[in-house]
Amino acid sequence: MSELHTLIDPKKIPLHVAIIMDGNGRWAQKKNLPRIEGHRRGAEIIEPIVEAAANIGIKYLSLFAFSTENWSRPADEVKALWQLLEMFFKMKLALINEKGVKIIFSGTFRRLPPTAKNVIEEAIRQTKNNNRITINFCINYGGRQEIVDAVNLWIQKRKPTEALTERKLSSCLYQPRLPDVDLLIRTSGEYRISNFMLWRLAYAELVFMNVLWPDFREKHLYLALHEYQKRERRFGGL
Ligand code: FPP
Repeated sequence: MSELHTLIDPKKIPLHVAIIMDGNGRWAQKKNLPRIEGHRRGAEIIEPIVEAAANIGIKYLSLFAFSTENWSRPADEVKALWQLLEMFFKMKLALINEKGVKIIFSGTFRRLPPTAKNVIEEAIRQTKNNNRITINFCINYGGRQEIVDAVNLWIQKRKPTEALTERKLSSCLYQPRLPDVDLLIRTSGEYRISNFMLWRLAYAELVFMNVLWPDFREKHLYLALHEYQKRERRFGGL
């Protein structure tokens, strides 16, 4: 375990960390490799980072794996990403389960290849009783789409003349019981939210790191946590 681990105050661990795993393509380009090789290396990093997050006491980790906007990439990259995702769940599910990891899903199954939908559903089913850490895989996910879907769901459920409140909208999101994000990490040196978890990010601390996702290691997670613990969170108060 990295020395940086000792910088972390175990009493101030964020409950919910979200990561925008950015920079796979640039990592590959820098090495003259095809972009998908960057995604493949990026997928390999997920498991050790989940393990480090669980060990340090993070209870919820949201990972942005495919956005509703990623469909606009070249068809062969999109296809390769789905294959990688299916492979990831097929190869890693037993290990994920053994480690007490619970998988949940945020996004929409609309447009998803049926084989991808099947492996995701199987992962959710097999890990539903685990409770060491919950990984919220955001796949075919868009933050605005989540809010629109929530409003539409609420309209279906509402009683006549009932008004929408924050609590009611929250209860219609993809994962109603997921807590708000405490810490958002984005890799690759870009300073953007990119339509990720807009509702849940309302009071998140944002940490942008100048490391490409395939180069992200445990020490980067500890650095982000250390930065988070230095921040004073006021939630709009004084
Ligand atoms: C951003 O890199 C990353 C993605 C669009 C997808 C993230 C996917 C993975 C980490 C691997 C697959 C996921 C699973 C769950 C197995 P980019 O392509 O936008 O990089 P760039 O900005 O350098 O081009």
